[in-house]
Amino acid sequence: MNRMTVIVIGAFLTFLTSWVGLVAYPYLQLGRFMPATDEASGDVNPPPLSGLAVMGQHVYAASGCVYCHSQQVRQIGIGSDLARGWGARPTVARDYMRERPAFLGTMRTGPDLANIGARQSSAKWHHQHLYQPAVVTPGSIMPSYRYLYRMQKIQGQRSERALDLLPPNVPPPGYEVVPTYEAEALVAYLISLNRNYPLPEAPEPTE
Ligand code: HEC
Repeated sequence: MNRMTVIVIGAFLTFLTSWVGLVAYPYLQLGRFMPATDEASGDVNPPPLSGLAVMGQHVYAASGCVYCHSQQVRQIGIGSDLARGWGARPTVARDYMRERPAFLGTMRTGPDLANIGARQSSAKWHHQHLYQPAVVTPGSIMPSYRYLYRMQKIQGQRSERALDLLPPNVPPPGYEVVPTYEAEALVAYLISLNRNYPLPEAPEPTE
């Protein structure tokens, strides 16, 4: 065998090994998840997202929320996520089977959001918080997402979608603040984040 053949075979084997390790094996292990049907309730888990929440996933991605928020509840022994109240059980691979991409995240400048919908299911709170986080959570360093809202003149009656903002964000008399479609979608997505449903491979820890 001359040297060129050895180099070509060596390069091929190097790429083949990494392809098996990074593509083929993970696909066999994780690529064929199906939703699980809970025998007691008949629910299909993980539940499908509404169309509005799927749109909200795109807003979440575009707004860079993943730079400060993770969506993964770690096992007992690896971290204190359960003790912090971030979920009833650790998250597992099947929890993310409907997500493209899954926002696992690597940074926790803010709290984990894997189950924010279970902790905070009020759309009103989320809008107040996104509009100016520090008003509802004093001292918050989360940036304001005010550009997802629109101030407009009240035409006749106040809009049903108008926000009841807290001072100092109350709009001047005759004006109202309404969420854009993106803000409505983002909040629908946040409220849908609840991974506390049962899965056979993820029982709730007993200790
Ligand atoms: C620069 C970092 C940063 C970014 C970017 C960021 N956040 Fe936050 N977030 C925080 C911090 C810090 C907190 C904790 C203080 C608070 O509640 O405001 C927080 C809290 C939250 C909470 C409340 C969590 C709880 O357990 O009460 C929600 C919901 C939230 N963020 C959603 C979002 C969404 C949605 C986006 C993107 C549109 C986003 N955050 C972007 C830093 C960030």
